[in-house]
Amino acid sequence: MIENVEKFIAEFARSLTEETFVKMTLGNYKGADEHLQKLLLRLIETRKGNRLFFLYRYDTRDTAKNHDFIESIKILSKILGTDFFSGHLFTTENDFQLDIGRKGKSRLNIAKPTFKTKPALDHDREKRRFVNTDSFYLRALGVTTDRGEIRDKQHDKWKQINKFVETLAALFDKSGLKDRTKLNIVDMGSGKGYLTFATYDFFKNIRNLDVKVTGVDTKSQLVGLCNDIAKASEFENLKFVNGWIGDFELKDVDILIALHACNTATDDAIFKGIRAEADLIVVAPCCHQEIRPQITPPEMLKNVLKHGIMLEREAESITDGLRALLLEKSGYQAKLFEFVSTEHTPKNNMIVGTLQKKMPDAEKFDAEIQAIKNFYGIKEQRLESLMNS
Ligand SMILES: C[S@@+](CC[C@H](N)C(=O)[O-])C[C@H]1O[C@@H](n2cnc3c(N)ncnc32)[C@H](O)[C@@H]1O
Repeated sequence: MIENVEKFIAEFARSLTEETFVKMTLGNYKGADEHLQKLLLRLIETRKGNRLFFLYRYDTRDTAKNHDFIESIKILSKILGTDFFSGHLFTTENDFQLDIGRKGKSRLNIAKPTFKTKPALDHDREKRRFVNTDSFYLRALGVTTDRGEIRDKQHDKWKQINKFVETLAALFDKSGLKDRTKLNIVDMGSGKGYLTFATYDFFKNIRNLDVKVTGVDTKSQLVGLCNDIAKASEFENLKFVNGWIGDFELKDVDILIALHACNTATDDAIFKGIRAEADLIVVAPCCHQEIRPQITPPEMLKNVLKHGIMLEREAESITDGLRALLLEKSGYQAKLFEFVSTEHTPKNNMIVGTLQKKMPDAEKFDAEIQAIKNFYGIKEQRLESLMNS
């Protein structure tokens, strides 16, 4: 057994020194953590030199860490045969498949290489206008393969990321922020961080601005993973914070983003942006649940809104319409549009608020909002309640 394990580790070390390493997967985990399933290793380039990016895949989450080559070899020697009982090493010369059995027996299969060339490291990348396909974070988040190709099931996500960055770039270029060299952006409800990473990468590496981006989310595991990937990507001013949007202390912000922050979390985010006088507020609402149960269909719409789907759409339109009016009342120009085709995601409406110099007549907006609420029998809308509190 020892001989095969040692040979496997030696081949791993050799592939690193001879620069033939492509990637490695460890599986058949029998260690103490009941949730850990796999360990995936990829090569990344950092300012301190090349490192190995360890992605620990659990049943419901991922965590990640970077190690230099010597540390990586030490870790591998420790965990092979104690925690992980299979290993698959891909080099440009051969594939090595190690299997360790229960009674100390092991097998090492050496086959022709699946990959004849190494994956491109970040430094070779060709810059695209909005999103670099071979960015490390896209690989780490599972959007692209090691070769920088979009994974089969990730085409919709890829379209959404691109469309979002393209939209944000156009909004930025048309706003009063366009000549700024320093930017502070907050992404409320950042989730797995797809759009947060893409936003940072765009402003930092394509537009070369001094940008700080903060993602906020209640899911601590996603926050931890995103911070690991941001560190591995050397995105120094990209941070993820664990917490509720409503509790997040927002002082200075230029652009506030909230993409698909569930239900009234969108209202919490818009409210934070308005209070902090963000120049741009960009939200794509989803899971509209607040208004629908409050609606009493007006007599003349009774037979239209008796159909569940019509009531649902009406409730969504009213919710987002009220949000846009409340932005206008707060001194923003509001725009509501579809930002990515419904073929890619049903959650595709975007509300954009651009801060104006002049404050409008708030009473006029209050009267209009009250009339809409009265018409539909709506008692409460979260953003309005927050603004009146
Ligand atoms: C549908 S995901 C969207 C993630 C990301 N913005 C995107 O578009 O890919 C919504 C995320 O918002 C987070 N979230 C919802 N309500 C929140 C709140 N009140 N405070 C912080 N995070 C919240 C959830 O934990 C989840 O990760």
